Amino acid sequence: MKLPRQFFKPLAIGAPAPYRELPVRLERMIHFVPPHLEKMRAKVPDIAKQVDVVLGNLEDAIPSDAKEAARKGFIEMAKATDFGSTGLWTRINCLNSPWVLDDIIEIVSEIGNKLDVIMLPKVEGAWDIHYLDQLLAQLEARHSIEKPILIHAILETAEGVKNVEEIAAASPRMHGMSLGPADLAASRAMKTTRVGGGHPDYKVLADPDGDKPRIGYQQDLWHYTVGKMVDACAANGIKPFYGPFGDFADLAACESQFRNAFLQGCVGAWSLHPTQIEIAKRVFSPDPGEVAFALKILEAMPDGAGAVMIDGKMQDDATWKQAKVIVDLARIVAAKDPEMGKAYGL
Ligand code: GLV
Ligand code: MG
Repeated sequence: MKLPRQFFKPLAIGAPAPYRELPVRLERMIHFVPPHLEKMRAKVPDIAKQVDVVLGNLEDAIPSDAKEAARKGFIEMAKATDFGSTGLWTRINCLNSPWVLDDIIEIVSEIGNKLDVIMLPKVEGAWDIHYLDQLLAQLEARHSIEKPILIHAILETAEGVKNVEEIAAASPRMHGMSLGPADLAASRAMKTTRVGGGHPDYKVLADPDGDKPRIGYQQDLWHYTVGKMVDACAANGIKPFYGPFGDFADLAACESQFRNAFLQGCVGAWSLHPTQIEIAKRVFSPDPGEVAFALKILEAMPDGAGAVMIDGKMQDDATWKQAKVIVDLARIVAAKDPEMGKAYGL
């Protein structure tokens, strides 16, 4: 393990110093754009105003013969668009692919000063992060990049889940992690062809009650992995996300999957279709009723100590901390979205 005193040193002479704390950014949805399609690129200036993060996807879903066009298209859209406070990310190809080296070299050299985060797919262990970390530092130094480009890992292999804590702690460049339920299902040989969400056969059956039909309750297939990822991220001060939800027509199921992730500690999810943007906004912005109650807790316990009763419910140091998480998030949402700010009374 690297010595603590070396951890925050730049990995190349001339590279920017790593962040000690992540920049405060609202990232309720990471909106995926296929940048090889001109029609989709043309929508980016408009989309950038509606979402928290625009991501140019170079990996899966981009056909092999369009990989170079996607990379060039991403660079073009990054140069042409003013993203304002909206984040600019890319998902590069995986480290054993023939495209990834050029993805990294060309993107950092062309738009390294505009790029916030690189999403790295199929991360198996800390060694994948160390490789990208070192390469990025060399390229940042070569191209005089002013702030460190962060790394976001996709948790989508059984080996990655096994090593999730080491991945989260691998570098100060780590921004966070997303659950990738499609690749993870394949890697684990789970018997589902869905991209995220539940499965009608994954349920708990109620006890028999005479001749009455047995009721079965569907369970969340992703609960264990999301919980494990949230703990690894929270313990290391980085951000956990739910990834893709593939059934674009089932808005209710998408909302339920996003909400489970939000309640478990995730800060955002991917939007692959415009309808999922509104869902993510709704789910990952705290509920105005919860914010009002959280504000009451903070007001009733200004120094966060002791115990009080509010509306018949006991509050103490721990609920004060929970309330602070909600109010801090509400303030970030209010700063980006004045309508929500009004709803929160902030
Ligand atoms: C995302 O990349 C997934 O595999 O679910
Ligand atoms: Mg994947």
